Amino acid sequence: MASPLRFDGRVVLVTGAGGGLGRAYALAFAERGASVVVNDLGGDFRGVGKGSSAADKVVEEIRSKGGKAVANYDSVEAGEKVVKTALDAFGRIDVVVNNAGILRDGSFARISDEDWDIIHRVHLRGSFRVTRAAWDHMKKQKFGRIIMTSSASGIYGNFGQANYSAAKLGLLGLSNTIALEGKKSNIHCNTIAPTAGSRMTQTVMPEDLLETLKPDYVAPLVLWLCHESCEENGGLFEVGGGWIGKLRWERSLGAIVRQKNQPMTPEGVKANWKKICDFENATKPQRIQESVGSIIGVVSKIDSDGGVSTNHTSHAASTAPSGFAGAIGYKFPPFSSAYTELETIMYALGVGASVKEPKDMKFIYEGSSDFSCLPTFGVIVAQKPLVDGGLGEVPELPVSLEKVLHGEQYLELYKPLPRSGNLKCEAVIADVLDKGSGLVILMDVYSYFEKELICYNQFSLFLVGSGGIGGKRTSDKVKEAVAVPNRPPDAVLTDVTSLNQAALYRLSGDWNPLHIDPNFSSFAGFDKPILHGLCTFGFSARHVLQKFADNDASRFKAIKVRFSKPVYPGQTIKTEMWKEGNRIHFQTKIHETGDIIISNAYVDLVPASGISAKTSSAREELQSTLVFEEIGRRLRDIGHEVVKKVDAVFEWHITKDGNTAAKWTIDLKNGSGKVYQGPAVGSADTTFTLSDEDFMEVVLGKLDPQKRGNFAKVTDLGCSGAGSQT
Ligand code: NAI
Repeated sequence: MASPLRFDGRVVLVTGAGGGLGRAYALAFAERGASVVVNDLGGDFRGVGKGSSAADKVVEEIRSKGGKAVANYDSVEAGEKVVKTALDAFGRIDVVVNNAGILRDGSFARISDEDWDIIHRVHLRGSFRVTRAAWDHMKKQKFGRIIMTSSASGIYGNFGQANYSAAKLGLLGLSNTIALEGKKSNIHCNTIAPTAGSRMTQTVMPEDLLETLKPDYVAPLVLWLCHESCEENGGLFEVGGGWIGKLRWERSLGAIVRQKNQPMTPEGVKANWKKICDFENATKPQRIQESVGSIIGVVSKIDSDGGVSTNHTSHAASTAPSGFAGAIGYKFPPFSSAYTELETIMYALGVGASVKEPKDMKFIYEGSSDFSCLPTFGVIVAQKPLVDGGLGEVPELPVSLEKVLHGEQYLELYKPLPRSGNLKCEAVIADVLDKGSGLVILMDVYSYFEKELICYNQFSLFLVGSGGIGGKRTSDKVKEAVAVPNRPPDAVLTDVTSLNQAALYRLSGDWNPLHIDPNFSSFAGFDKPILHGLCTFGFSARHVLQKFADNDASRFKAIKVRFSKPVYPGQTIKTEMWKEGNRIHFQTKIHETGDIIISNAYVDLVPASGISAKTSSAREELQSTLVFEEIGRRLRDIGHEVVKKVDAVFEWHITKDGNTAAKWTIDLKNGSGKVYQGPAVGSADTTFTLSDEDFMEVVLGKLDPQKRGNFAKVTDLGCSGAGSQT
């Protein structure tokens, strides 16, 4: 049997505990070890008169059974005094059950100002004042449980109870916000709408029903919600006669009734009314962000789309099984990322480079002879569509930005990043996967420096709760994460992050208040602002570079990580590393807790001997470079014709001494064709890997091109002058 829920050492205040439901709560808490303050003004059910006997009787009853209780006879409107009784008698306050109440029923037209006011004063203002008086004590002790008592009258409305209904549903609003504000201090607030026989209901309920709806059948829910082991917070429950049910909001998918540059009209609303009120496929929003988020999503959709059909709905468009097909291949407007040595250094400091480590000077002092930009700065130049909310503009994606999690990151460099520069970037939605619990969006970003592809990023973004609509689960576009070896790590490096780490890192361009504003982070469900995932990523990559590449940025080739948990500034980041050839597997933990924050990660290094292949002087050494450049030149004249005939994208991996020394793409599919260095933007239809020497042999007709599969098609273009047409 489960151990009994006890309240030993807890101080519980029940308002209006002189009879009915409040008395049942007070007796039940006391029976389970709590010290109870029995508050009751002692008037009649209309709130007329006062007296001490109601509270005294319940206190006596508790004491006669060996329990601890004191009485308080103040009105709940004097909340401070009521709470003071608890503090004076027992030294603390742990639980507040706001239960006191009266009725002033009458049809709406007959409600007097007085009857309106007194109902609000006792129910709504009374609960506010008692709770506020207890609040700081609960916050200080980092524990509190609060109950608000609402009513079915408020939830559904009830004839003759307009004043009471309004106040009772007001209590739910109060509870909703208190639940959010108290969460980080372990103060939980829940609301009940009870049904029970009491003096309040005896005039409206038949005798036998009163008997079956005992207050004792409500008390167990109140006790559970107030127990320290109960995590429920912000809930609303109907309870009575031994039955308990939870309530939540439901929202129809709705309809967009406005079009860009056109007035919104009541006729448009009328035309969409059925859809607005249709609860098929309805959502169940739980947080204000879901409300604001979808409205902002709709607004940006209307304003960017150049018009939305009045029959579209924000969610319906995206939740149809083929809903996000239109998002795949979406190209963001090209953007540029300019940076100077200032940004380079700021980033390095943001990911923990420090004067404490002499070898870090090259990343933080522009006067160093070997001053370098940290390779992972490559994510910073590419992150604009994410940090500027561009994701919200992707058509047919159900993006409410507060639900986007950064799941994984891949970065590949083709050359070391310059110490300063202006990079041109192109971003594309490479694919969208349906993982059931959410959608994974693969956003590929290609960054060019002086027309040459210098780095490639793949951001994997997880859209919580938008999946399960029948899309594909995998894609060949995914840069896969790889499990770490099953043996103790070959090396471990740790770094204590500073309390200002996120404040510093955000200066590199991710200004999300989640990382600095405590109100915002608690809104998002965190105890305090969290560190950016990409900051931890930078720390870990730095560790790998330091341990296995002597801090030589030119040896960095690629990195892949999976983010699994957040880190708080001030915690210690520990990177565990395994060397397997030129691949350094790693995972990153919070030293203090052991939690894994980055998993299944690796860094690929250029072998020390292969560095020259990455430098631009070495680029010229590749004979194939000249050929590709020549193909590019010829394409300018005849590209249009060739594209019509070939209709394919070819990617080339040119190797030198066994290492990939260059990647080229010949795009004979789009526009009038294009040749550029680096992997294909989007995807290639065919990829060839061959050495620089073999490439030249084929070009010069010395090696049978058929042995290289489809190779012939491309050499037609590049090498007609070299006499190797096939
Ligand atoms: P009740 O009338 O038996 O108990 C209410 C108690 O509150 C009384 O003892 C009364 O003296 C006390 N009280 C009234 N004004 C006060 C004030 N200003 N300060 C301190 N104490 C005050 O009624 P019952 O049924 O036990 O109701 C308890 C709560 O449950 C009320 O808030 C009521 O609105 C709510 N409720 C009850 C339902 C039911 O079916 N009994 C249905 C829905 C809500």
